[in-house]
Amino acid sequence: MQITSLFKEVLETDEMILDDFKIAPYTIDWRKRYQTSCRCVLRPKSVQSLQKIMRIAYENHIAVTPQGGNTSMCGASIPSVENSVIVILDRISKVRSLNILDKTVTVEAGMVLANVQSFVREAGFYFPLSLASEGSCQIGGNIACNAGGLNVLRYGTMRDLVLGLEVVLPNGDLISHLSSLHKNTTGLDTKQLWIGSEGTLGIITAATLKIYAQANEKITLLVACEEINQVLSLLEKFQFEYMHELTSFEYMSLPVFELSQNYSGISFGLSGQHFVLCELSLDNEQGFNKDLLLEQLLSLGLSNTIIASSDKESQKMWQVRENISEAQKNTLGVSIKHDIAVPISSLQSFIENTELKIKSEFPDAIILLFGHLGDGSLHYNISLARDHSNEVYQYEEKLNQLVYTEVIKCSGTIAAEHGIGQLKKKWLSWVRTEQEIQIMQLLKKNIDPRNIMNPGKVLPD
Ligand code: FAD
Ligand code: MLT
Ligand code: ZN
Repeated sequence: MQITSLFKEVLETDEMILDDFKIAPYTIDWRKRYQTSCRCVLRPKSVQSLQKIMRIAYENHIAVTPQGGNTSMCGASIPSVENSVIVILDRISKVRSLNILDKTVTVEAGMVLANVQSFVREAGFYFPLSLASEGSCQIGGNIACNAGGLNVLRYGTMRDLVLGLEVVLPNGDLISHLSSLHKNTTGLDTKQLWIGSEGTLGIITAATLKIYAQANEKITLLVACEEINQVLSLLEKFQFEYMHELTSFEYMSLPVFELSQNYSGISFGLSGQHFVLCELSLDNEQGFNKDLLLEQLLSLGLSNTIIASSDKESQKMWQVRENISEAQKNTLGVSIKHDIAVPISSLQSFIENTELKIKSEFPDAIILLFGHLGDGSLHYNISLARDHSNEVYQYEEKLNQLVYTEVIKCSGTIAAEHGIGQLKKKWLSWVRTEQEIQIMQLLKKNIDPRNIMNPGKVLPD
């Protein structure tokens, strides 16, 4: 029987997208780096429907790619083998419960991150995961990628925010452990397997997440620096002076800052080589001493600073930061992306050495360096002035090698927050030991013996 007919037997008509024209957007990734095909897109209206889908997929060895907001930067969310189906969870997207005393919210996996944030905000609390794609990425995708973003410094990554999980296994069975416990030492913490698994071990359908008190006041500031070591001194100072308040420390190099300012139609009139966007979140009502903050900046030789004087100004600062990826895609076309992290103590030498290596082989390289420097992660994106088309991908392997060699020298990672997907699976063995990869393979074989869950991702072929 045809794949689509098998699903038609158990699903309602509106749970399947069969029209090629309507399927098309689900088969291309955000970057337009990968384009693929699929048999159909399935839109289960309930967890029970999803279980039926997985039972059929399991019995008939049909490859399934779960897709959230399709904002993956490494081709994780679109199929990489033929005859796949894509499963989307936009109809499994409700709030299940809010528990104020436990400080948790339980939401379904298809809920868009921004909707979770606003639900929690309206209830008087704060959900801290925040990324530029928050208007379209979904909680299930955030968990499957162990998303990081702008507030990791204080609240950790998605892994730190998940207390309980509900998952449909490849054979259609359901594991539902939506625990509100902040402590639990009953053997291995099995939910961790699905966090960061990139859709390769099952489909996440709901999660219990930690929520926090809202900040009383937020101070947003943009600091221009001439030297990278000033950026690091600023981080050190803020981590000491504002240990509890510092929630974001985002770095932008000059080319990135200019590109995004131009794209956003915003100019702050700051001059420098390096820019830092910081946020301090204050919990008490005692007011904030801005003069002291300025003095602290001056003591580091940093006089070129703007402290946002209104929400509007703060939003503009964040707009410039959050528009970077779009500005880059729409202005410079294709770029070779890296989502690396190195120990903060190695950042300066990493940045200097990598630039030297790249410029010596690619003198026309435009290095677009930005990211969540406060937690040691950087987006090291490279465009080549000679060409902005897909032809640039012919240099991807060489550029990856140059960047990753420097990353390894610093004991860093090739995927800080975007995951491995199909883009980086060939490089996994550079950062994980043979034994670690074997353990991952063993778990995959055991949980997904028919290799139907998002095959072709994460693990080497
Ligand atoms: P998708 O892209 O749809 O899927 C990603 C992976 O998760 C795939 O492997 C997919 O199969 C799997 N998946 C999706 N839903 C489920 C589910 N319910 N169950 C099991 N597996 C599932 N990431 C960061 O970490 N930090 C950032 O700051 C950041 N900024 C970004 C900015 C922009 C402009 C863009 C486009 C992306 C950014 N990203 C960032 C990357 C991306 O948004 C995140 O990885 C996000 O968590 C992916 O969520 P998604 O719903 O779009 O997942
Ligand atoms: C971001 O931090 O804005 C994204 O993770 C960036 C990207 O690599 O495009
Ligand atoms: Zn990022």
